[in-house]
Amino acid sequence: MERFYITTPIYYVNAKPHLGHAYTTTVADTMARFHTLMGADTYFLTGTDEHGDKIVQAAESNGQTPKEYVDVISKLFQGLLPDMNISNDDFIRTTEPRHVKVVQEILQKVYDAGDIYFGEYGGHYCFGCERFYTEKELVDGLCPDHQTKPEYIAEKNYFFKMSKYKDWLLDHIEKHPDFIRPEQYKNEVVSLLESGELEDLCISRPKSRLTWGIELPFDADYVTYVWFDALINYVAALGYPDGDKFKKYWPAANHLVAKDILKPHAVFWPTMLKAAGIEPYQHLNVHGYWLVEDTKMSKSIGNVIEPLAMKDAYGLDAFRYFLLREMSFGQDSSFSEKALVGRLNADLANDLGNLFNRTLSMTHKYFDGIIPQPDVEEIVDAEIKKVGQGAMKSFQRNYAEFKFSRGLEGLWELVRGLNKYVDATAPWTLYKEKNTARLSTVIYVLLENMRKIAVHLWPVMPGASEQMLEQLGIAFDAQKINLSKELDVWGLLESGSVVAQSSNLFPRVDPPEEASPKKMEKKPKKSEKADRTDAVAAIEFEDFQKLDLRVGTVMEAEKHPEADRLLLVRVDTGDDEPRQVVAGLADFYAPDDLVGKQVVVVVNLKPRKLRKQLSQGMILAVKTKDGMQLLTASGEVPAGSKVS
Ligand code: MSP
Repeated sequence: MERFYITTPIYYVNAKPHLGHAYTTTVADTMARFHTLMGADTYFLTGTDEHGDKIVQAAESNGQTPKEYVDVISKLFQGLLPDMNISNDDFIRTTEPRHVKVVQEILQKVYDAGDIYFGEYGGHYCFGCERFYTEKELVDGLCPDHQTKPEYIAEKNYFFKMSKYKDWLLDHIEKHPDFIRPEQYKNEVVSLLESGELEDLCISRPKSRLTWGIELPFDADYVTYVWFDALINYVAALGYPDGDKFKKYWPAANHLVAKDILKPHAVFWPTMLKAAGIEPYQHLNVHGYWLVEDTKMSKSIGNVIEPLAMKDAYGLDAFRYFLLREMSFGQDSSFSEKALVGRLNADLANDLGNLFNRTLSMTHKYFDGIIPQPDVEEIVDAEIKKVGQGAMKSFQRNYAEFKFSRGLEGLWELVRGLNKYVDATAPWTLYKEKNTARLSTVIYVLLENMRKIAVHLWPVMPGASEQMLEQLGIAFDAQKINLSKELDVWGLLESGSVVAQSSNLFPRVDPPEEASPKKMEKKPKKSEKADRTDAVAAIEFEDFQKLDLRVGTVMEAEKHPEADRLLLVRVDTGDDEPRQVVAGLADFYAPDDLVGKQVVVVVNLKPRKLRKQLSQGMILAVKTKDGMQLLTASGEVPAGSKVS
């Protein structure tokens, strides 16, 4: 059986979690879920990194002991997991005895093998990064990350002979070209290794300077350097050296980090593993930064995005979809609520939401909600199946390589293709023509493809995917799904079961700057209102926003069977089928003159019956002294375009 082991960095507990942490954890989650559905036995680890100077400083400024402080912040990170629907199997804290034990075992092993020595060291130490910098690495004498002047520290310390493994590491990378991916980061590491001598790594801190750390097993006056301690979490959590989980999952280890911690993961960690006699991990997967207005998020700049606020404002699944769809894995990406709203409305509300809603309501209208048995097939059915296969293949291939954005783009070929399929097959016409044999196939093809889309979206939007399946009458069960088989299997959806009446998983949302129009609106003064007796009282902008006005195309019109002055006008307003409006136009227009005209319709007027005929809206017109003029757009627009 295939296995997949995915890890996130263990996060420092010196600050609250923000969008960057939420992103990495969400990516790990989506991968764990994806591999589960691909049939692999997966294991997903996250946790917190709790030792080191940074933590001591943060605790001090909070008036707490390090232990009190780390307990509180680690809880915040753990608390974020259920809120983001994260399916981790384990959460490791570096202050736990199971971790401390393995760190000391590995230190002892490497020490006994002669790869740790005691020496004098002087270097430029950045407290922010918790590491020494060489002269060459500083930029104008400052830490490249924090732009602060490092402190020169000279002291006796223990060193790991990292330099000894440079050639081995270069060779390993050459033989396993996707050891570090995407490629740009592999190239970065190779040129770093090739550009000069690889230094040895200082792996201890004297207790005279720092006590908050794991004591060296061979010298009680020293604690372990936080990176040598932290990286070991990845094997400690699996029960190294004898645990079953270690044997099962370590060969399939995939680490996930952002580019800020590339060097510790791409250089320190593999050489440490080599020295300890442990096989290297399988892949290091590196992503870029989320930026806000082109600047890295940081507490001091005050541009930190709170993931839970985004989740509360837009819904967790929509937020997860945006994170995965928007960032090209490996590149930096700018976060903006405007872009989020744009994606949500275009991809989720318009494309996916509309497909579900219109198909479910058609299934109810034409088949009382019961999934029909497919019958007469036509060439368009084979064509859409092919689109589906291509879309699923693209999703699966890209997802396996952490290319989420491309994978989702691929899957949306099917979502959009199905919306076109509805327009091309015009189920409402088949219904009118009583062509049930063909209509059954069309509805079945739509529903079966929607099932395929829903299962593929479980890694992306687990909650929405389960709801979509429920709407199709299916109880979600990860064990019963195999994504790779979906490419070839057709017809898993059972005819005869009942679907939901409608679906409103992704309602449209307003762009952020329009969300609070009150601020911009000035109420008219009392005196002005009183003077304008002929005008209708002014309304607030929100009142206007309540109107859903759309431009539609008249498809059919006929006389009302029981009222001479009324017409039954059926208008395409972009919904699953034309909308019938009973309009007082018979004195001014012959039914045939209306067909093909574009009209403005109030579509969210409560439906009502006018002389026994259902009217779902109102057509806007201007009455003049000698006739009637219909309101329309100044040029042709797609049916269903919103008037705003
Ligand atoms: N404790 C170390 C990791 C030890 S792993 C053995 C650490 N912690 S951290 O809290 O600083 O987390 C860094 C990670 O958080 C990044 O590698 C990335 O996964 C995530 N992110 C933090 N800010 C980010 C962005 N602005 N954008 C994307 N991800 C970011 O380093």
